[in-house]
Amino acid sequence: MKEYSHRLMLQLVLILAIPFFMQGCLSSQEQTKQVVTEQSTQESVEAVADEIIASTPEPEPVAQVQEQSELVFEPNLKQAKKVVHPPFETKVCTLCHKSSSPKTGDDLLMDQPDLCYQCHEKDAKEGKKFIHGPVAAGACTICHNPHESENTTLLRYSNINELCTSCHAAKGDFLKNTDNIHPPVKDSCVNCHDPHTEDYEFQLRADRKKDICLTCHVDKQEWITTVKSKHGAINIGNGCQNCHDPHGTGQPKMLKAATVKDICLTCHDKTQVTDEEGYKLLNIKKHLDENPDWHGPIQWGDCAMCHNPHGSDNLRMLNKPFPKTFYANFDEKNYICFECHDAGKIKNETTIDDTNFRNGNSNMHFVHVNKKKGRTCRACHDFHGTKDYPHHLKKKTEFGKISFPIRFIETPTGGSCAPACHARRYYDREKPIKNLK
Ligand code: HEC
Ligand code: HEC
Ligand code: HEC
Ligand code: HEC
Ligand code: HEC
Ligand code: HEC
Ligand code: HEC
Ligand code: HEC
Ligand code: HEC
Ligand code: HEC
Ligand code: HEC
Repeated sequence: MKEYSHRLMLQLVLILAIPFFMQGCLSSQEQTKQVVTEQSTQESVEAVADEIIASTPEPEPVAQVQEQSELVFEPNLKQAKKVVHPPFETKVCTLCHKSSSPKTGDDLLMDQPDLCYQCHEKDAKEGKKFIHGPVAAGACTICHNPHESENTTLLRYSNINELCTSCHAAKGDFLKNTDNIHPPVKDSCVNCHDPHTEDYEFQLRADRKKDICLTCHVDKQEWITTVKSKHGAINIGNGCQNCHDPHGTGQPKMLKAATVKDICLTCHDKTQVTDEEGYKLLNIKKHLDENPDWHGPIQWGDCAMCHNPHGSDNLRMLNKPFPKTFYANFDEKNYICFECHDAGKIKNETTIDDTNFRNGNSNMHFVHVNKKKGRTCRACHDFHGTKDYPHHLKKKTEFGKISFPIRFIETPTGGSCAPACHARRYYDREKPIKNLK
């Protein structure tokens, strides 16, 4: 009862007050555009204005990956109670129409959007560098009902994505037919795009290449700026979009290609130069084309099993450490290889099954690798692909600026090699061979 009469009073005051309130709070327009000219209720106008402002809910914050473990999906904008546009609620139809009891929409005081800018700030709707097509065309009521609606912000659709895709039909098909849609896209287009105007291309809330992504992926912001081995891919061309589609793709992680490898090879099909050393990186595509015996994870198309595409603290953005040099003091922790291969292959001095690289029970991996100034895997293996020998053994080993052929010969029970390091030496798992010093 009490509430009801309060509401009535508010309505009365509003009728008188609205034009002032509009002018004071919503519009930066000059006095001359005032619709009605009563001056007497200024104080109550302010009181009402305060009340409306206080009861206007804060805009929903943009979803933050960091702060919320789960996105709050809000596809349904339907309100429990009808949303009524305050000027319509006053029943003073002449705020917009010429007639005080209009029967059509043909008698408007003026065209849109100026009709709306009587009260709404023009700058907020088209004051920035990029203006959305229908806003620039003044078609406010294509999206908003000027009187009342069952949906928030007087929208004509109960779902923002339905509203947007009512015109952007291709995106509608995309939403229907795509498996891996980026969660904030499924939620609402306006998580990233302003429906009216923005300073960034495509009315985005930040620059399209990288900044827009980092507004939510704040953990990535920290990662890409603090890792020691940074990836040039993030700062050239289309930034994050070199690899990801912002809306989603049929591929996992919204990648723009069928496999991680395919994405990597869009750039690593030529020599890339590292920032810090001017070092020229191997052309991986050419290397793989010429060396068809690919290492397991590359056969699976997944370079990210070893490299972090966003950079890392390790050599060459590896997910785990790997020694940079030909020689290194052996420490199990320094080898990414043991993420997939058993470290026993290097750790056990004698073995019957940890490795086939053994002379009888004597572990040749141990002999070469596991010591102070041991040889790192790079002395013998290539990590991407090989052609000349089995077991991903390289044709040549690089020692500083020189490279020596390793001349590997495999036998059914062992093998031999003759690099520049030593004369040909043999290993045999069944009948251990005594090599001459
Ligand atoms: C905030 C401005 C505004 C106010 C206030 C307003 N109207 Fe309208 N009205 C419009 C606009 C704009 C249209 C044209 C709609 C469109 O473009 O789709 C319209 C259209 C109409 C139509 C045509 C049918 C329709 O709904 O599209 C009628 C009838 C109408 N108004 C009645 C009223 C009455 C009655 C009042 C007062 C109780 C009123 N209007 C107050 C802006 C307003
Ligand atoms: C006579 C003044 C006046 C005119 C003219 C006017 N509005 Fe409004 N409008 C208001 C007031 C007051 C509010 C409520 C305060 C607010 O949310 O900023 C409002 C709110 C809105 C809202 C937000 C509603 C919500 O629930 O958050 C939309 C959308 C809107 N107006 C669209 C329009 C459009 C489109 C036009 C032109 C067809 C228009 N307005 C013309 C006064 C006006
Ligand atoms: C393409 C559809 C579309 C058009 C055209 C459009 N709007 Fe909106 N408008 C929206 C959407 C969607 C929201 C809700 C945004 C949100 O929830 O973040 C909104 C929100 C609003 C609001 C309330 C929140 C705010 O940003 O102040 C007002 C007022 C408003 N629009 C006025 C207008 C006016 C005036 C025009 C014409 C100049 C217009 N709109 C044209 C889609 C549109
Ligand atoms: C009434 C139809 C209509 C609705 C509804 C609509 N748009 Fe648009 N949109 C357009 C038009 C027209 C353009 C301008 C197209 C152009 O310039 O090629 C446009 C342009 C855009 C662009 C820039 C595209 C480009 O290639 O430059 C984006 C992004 C966009 N709209 C997003 C949205 C979002 C998000 C929504 C929902 C809030 C939405 N649109 C709702 C008609 C609409
Ligand atoms: C996560 C942020 C994000 C969300 C959410 C989002 N977009 Fe985009 N959108 C972008 C970015 C970034 C671009 C710029 C693409 C580029 O640089 O080529 C873009 C571009 C566009 C374009 C123009 C280029 C194109 O792809 O046609 C349209 C239209 C568009 N978005 C519509 C939508 C619609 C409709 C929705 C909701 C279904 C939506 N967007 C949701 C980030 C987003
Ligand atoms: C509005 C916030 C927001 C923006 C902006 C945003 N994202 Fe996301 N993104 C999310 C949320 C939420 C998830 C789901 C998080 C999760 O699964 O942990 C996600 C997930 C992802 C995923 C993983 C998808 C999967 O299949 O697991 C990738 C990749 C991604 N985003 C990339 C991007 C890129 C690239 C951009 C910029 C074009 C971007 N995001 C902008 C909120 C955002
Ligand atoms: C060189 C290509 C490439 C670039 C550039 C790139 N990403 Fe990724 N991103 C990937 C790949 C590949 C994966 C999948 C990794 C995996 O499967 O382990 C991924 C996964 C993700 C994921 C989900 C898994 C995770 O690591 O959290 C997010 C989120 C993400 N990227 C965001 C971004 C953002 C934000 C940017 C720009 C700052 C960006 N990416 C730039 C290739 C890239
Ligand atoms: C958009 C082009 C682009 C894509 C896509 C790309 N890269 Fe790169 N990558 C570069 C550039 C440029 C450099 C050289 C600058 C630098 O050192 O980061 C580089 C450097 C590297 C380095 C050496 C880093 C160092 O400095 O030591 C590795 C390793 C690497 N990329 C792996 C990958 C992998 C794995 C993928 C796929 C997930 C990939 N790249 C996708 C452009 C790209
Ligand atoms: C089994 C782990 C593994 C996989 C999978 C892998 N790499 Fe590597 N990659 C390495 C290691 C270890 C190095 C360091 C080699 C060195 O320093 O000689 C390296 C080095 C690189 C380099 C720098 C080469 C140079 O000239 O120093 C690039 C570029 C690179 N990888 C790209 C890729 C791409 C692209 C893929 C997928 C096609 C891929 N890697 C898959 C382990 C891997
Ligand atoms: C992500 C898992 C993974 C990582 C990390 C990895 N490998 Fe492999 N590796 C495999 C798989 C799977 C195979 C079997 C397929 C093949 O022959 O390539 C394999 C095979 C090999 C073979 C050949 C085996 C044979 O008898 O033909 C060698 C040699 C090898 N890896 C060396 C390395 C070295 C050195 C590293 C560290 C730089 C490494 N691997 C890191 C998964 C991995
Ligand atoms: C001195 C050369 C040399 C070095 C250094 C070396 N390997 Fe090997 N590796 C071989 C040879 C030779 C074989 C083939 C053994 C056979 O099947 O006859 C082999 C085989 C392998 C295999 C296949 C399975 C097995 O053990 O028989 C893996 C996996 C492997 N090496 C991993 C590594 C890793 C990881 C490192 C570094 C920690 C490493 N290797 C260092 C020469 C080397």
